[in-house]
Amino acid sequence: MYNKVMETVEFLNERVEMRPKVAIILGSGLGDLVDYIEEKIEIPYEEIPNFPVSTVAGHAGKLVFGKINGVEVLAMKGRFHYYEGYEMKQVTYPIYVMKQFGIENMIVSNAAGGINKNFKPGTLMLITDFINMFGTNPLIGKNDERFGVRFPDMSEAYSKELISLAKKVAEKNNEKYEEGTYLGTTGPSYETAAEIKMMSIMGADAVGMSTVPETIVANYLGIKVLGISCITNMATGIAQTAHSHEAVVDIAVKTGERFCKWVVDIVSELK
Ligand code: 6GU
Repeated sequence: MYNKVMETVEFLNERVEMRPKVAIILGSGLGDLVDYIEEKIEIPYEEIPNFPVSTVAGHAGKLVFGKINGVEVLAMKGRFHYYEGYEMKQVTYPIYVMKQFGIENMIVSNAAGGINKNFKPGTLMLITDFINMFGTNPLIGKNDERFGVRFPDMSEAYSKELISLAKKVAEKNNEKYEEGTYLGTTGPSYETAAEIKMMSIMGADAVGMSTVPETIVANYLGIKVLGISCITNMATGIAQTAHSHEAVVDIAVKTGERFCKWVVDIVSELK
């Protein structure tokens, strides 16, 4: 895989002059952040050598290079989900590319269901830790020491330094947020009420179908991670109504403005 990653990196190095150290992965409904990016260079995933090919029609994404308040960023608009049928190595391929491209900090976002009863749709949750319930791990397989160690530490899966920075800018700008543990599961079905009860007892505050694989690989590679969940709906059994993906995207878009402002403020401090 190393050679494939380097080939992708070479392509990007030729296509763009910028050398961002900050990457942002945009979750469902949170893609509007790209409107805050200036001097944009957009590259559709289909054009990037060795990038996973999209299976869902019209659902492909793109890399967006540019600047937020003068800070160079690399944004991923659209990510690869395990439930779409991608292998874990494909889901996390962009993270390997980011590392070799020079990314040091990664902001990962998602739409998630609220398990913590203090949350409500529209809550922004700073992710302080994760629980991996994918039933697999993206690092399974022969380890390539050029990337990282066989048994990577996860004691600071989400960087304490980035968490304090995010809190500092939120407080300075009067932005409301909660904190909690994100539980990642494969999907695509939403959870049963019994599963949510279990996850609650396990200590989860929010549940979603992404983010954990990318966080594991980023830690393995030595990229610092900041995670933000947009709570789009309360989880099964806590919510009174059935879930719909449309409602999830609708709330994510509505909360998107506050999300974007926060991320812009955080990135601006990463000069
Ligand atoms: Cl309730 N569950 C999962 N797994 N993902 C979600 C969600 C719920 N709400 C938004 N994304």
